[in-house]
Amino acid sequence: MDLIFATGNKNKLLEINKIIPKNIKIISLKDLKFKEDIPENENTIEGNAIYKAKYISKKFGLNVFSDDTGLEVDALDGEPGVRSARYAGEDCDSTKNINKLLKNLKNKSNRNARFKTVIALIIKNKVYTFEGLVEGVILKNPIGKNGFGYDSIFSPLGTNKSFAELSINEKNIISHRSLAIKKLLNFIS
Ligand code: IMP
Repeated sequence: MDLIFATGNKNKLLEINKIIPKNIKIISLKDLKFKEDIPENENTIEGNAIYKAKYISKKFGLNVFSDDTGLEVDALDGEPGVRSARYAGEDCDSTKNINKLLKNLKNKSNRNARFKTVIALIIKNKVYTFEGLVEGVILKNPIGKNGFGYDSIFSPLGTNKSFAELSINEKNIISHRSLAIKKLLNFIS
């Protein structure tokens, strides 16, 4: 089975490729020479995931799945959530996003947070969604060199480490993304 993974994020691709069984061939947007930035203007993580999958499905007419992820911080009423990618502004990067988050959490004692991924799958023009959640806490300072995005400040419950201190395989045992993709794999098998 061929499946397009509608992402331009090479880290997401690396993580997913380590989980997907060999009988499923993942086609990346790079393989398709697709370089556009797909808009993420919906109000929910689920909405963005569906939008991205539909956008690529319309363009290439193949089976597609997409991933949209957000970091929900309890003391910030669920922010940055659906705005995680552009938390520090339109032209921001992960360092700016992390700095803004740590600043906003400075005087808060509740550091509980969760990563939420919604994967939207389009097969034969039907849309299916799969959600993965991982609970954890926001660290006081970034730590670790692996991963991407907010990984260096998020410590999943029970690990005493940040996601950025884990290998891809270790992250894949517990992560939001792996939980969502395992639900997708279960569905298509
Ligand atoms: P998106 O799903 O690509 O829109 O990502 C939203 C934001 O969350 C971006 O800033 C990503 O870098 C970040 N992000 C997405 N997935 C992860 C993850 O697994 N770990 C850490 N940050 C992530």
